[in-house]
Amino acid sequence: MITKNNIYLKLNKVIYPGFTKSIIDFNFVSDIKLEDNKIVINLDIPSASNTIAQQLKDEIIKRLSTFDVETIVDITQPKMPRETSSNGKNVLPNIQNFVMVSSGKGGVGKSTTTVNLAIALAQQGKRVGLLDADIYGPNIPRMMGIEGEQPVFLGKTIKPILAHNVKVMSIGSLVERGASLIWKGAMVTQAIEQMLEDIEWGNLDILLFDMPPGTGDAQLALAQSLPVTSGVCVTTPQKVALDDTIRSMDMFTQLHIPIAGIVENMSGFICPDSGKEYDIFGKGTTQPLADAYQTRVLGEVPIEPAIREGGDSGLPITVLAPECETSIRYKNMSNKLWEKLLEVNEDGGVDNEEIQPTIF
Ligand SMILES: Nc1ncnc2c1ncn2[C@@H]1O[C@H](COP(=O)(O)OP(=O)(O)OP(=O)(O)O)[C@@H](O)[C@H]1O
Ligand SMILES: [Mg+2]
Repeated sequence: MITKNNIYLKLNKVIYPGFTKSIIDFNFVSDIKLEDNKIVINLDIPSASNTIAQQLKDEIIKRLSTFDVETIVDITQPKMPRETSSNGKNVLPNIQNFVMVSSGKGGVGKSTTTVNLAIALAQQGKRVGLLDADIYGPNIPRMMGIEGEQPVFLGKTIKPILAHNVKVMSIGSLVERGASLIWKGAMVTQAIEQMLEDIEWGNLDILLFDMPPGTGDAQLALAQSLPVTSGVCVTTPQKVALDDTIRSMDMFTQLHIPIAGIVENMSGFICPDSGKEYDIFGKGTTQPLADAYQTRVLGEVPIEPAIREGGDSGLPITVLAPECETSIRYKNMSNKLWEKLLEVNEDGGVDNEEIQPTIF
């Protein structure tokens, strides 16, 4: 029998490409109509990619073919080339640029990279904010040296905490330790949206988002609520990490977020005793991946005890030793990121549609 409910159940099996959830879970189905001998489905998706739209159309028509009536799928998408990744919606008009730092794999150094890039930008006079969007494992408060510090509430809004000239907010500062571990996907999405609206950021040149590992709900929630200007992907050089990085790059492409580049972290180890360089996880393996996605390697950061110590002590290397080789690399990376932001603001960025994901 053709009922709206039966159609709904079928649509709930249509997975949004690149993710693990269905178009129903993501709330992309805006209308289901039953007309005489016709089913009309309306979708509203955040990707401008024609490939994604076609894939969804084919999948929906296939799923509903058992009803034996004509199915029409009408998909609303953001325009191409797009200025934003969020259908033009911007709840934070005082912030010029939004940068999502992501990785397919956990523990590759996203938070470390985000913190040091944020500080390097602030050291060059930019007004910088840093939002810890890692609901499950927030590390930013410790890395920025503000663990245990409670943010100030101003009526309904919350003031971010200033650390090393960066305005920082983390859900870890708001939620009781351990409580976030039982959160579900929808709650994560809601928490991120709420945090975006309730924080008193003031005027910022750039707001960096330290994302949880993977390519899931948090990334999508962000791309839907904000015009993400650019994405930075962090990886380590070994082949198994690169496989996950491809997923992360595909996600940026599908969400139509212009990619600023890849940071190759833990790239070689310079022995402090001999000055000799050892390739523990490999080195230089990300360049072909950057080429495949028409982007660049923003920089290579070696394994360095001072980076780990900086993260643990709340005094990141860019603060502790701003003139050392690694800090200079972070500075160069932050310059490349800024160049990309200028480019995106000027011409809407690279047209990701041209990129063929996973050809690598
Ligand atoms: N280049 C490096 N040299 C030495 N230690 C590093 C380097 N990069 C990161 N680390 C250390 O590795 C650990 C993991 O880094 P980090 O927390 O930044 O990773 P992450 O990708 O954010 O992890 P998660 O996926 O859990 O959020 C931290 O202890 C950090 O200090
Ligand atoms: Mg992290």
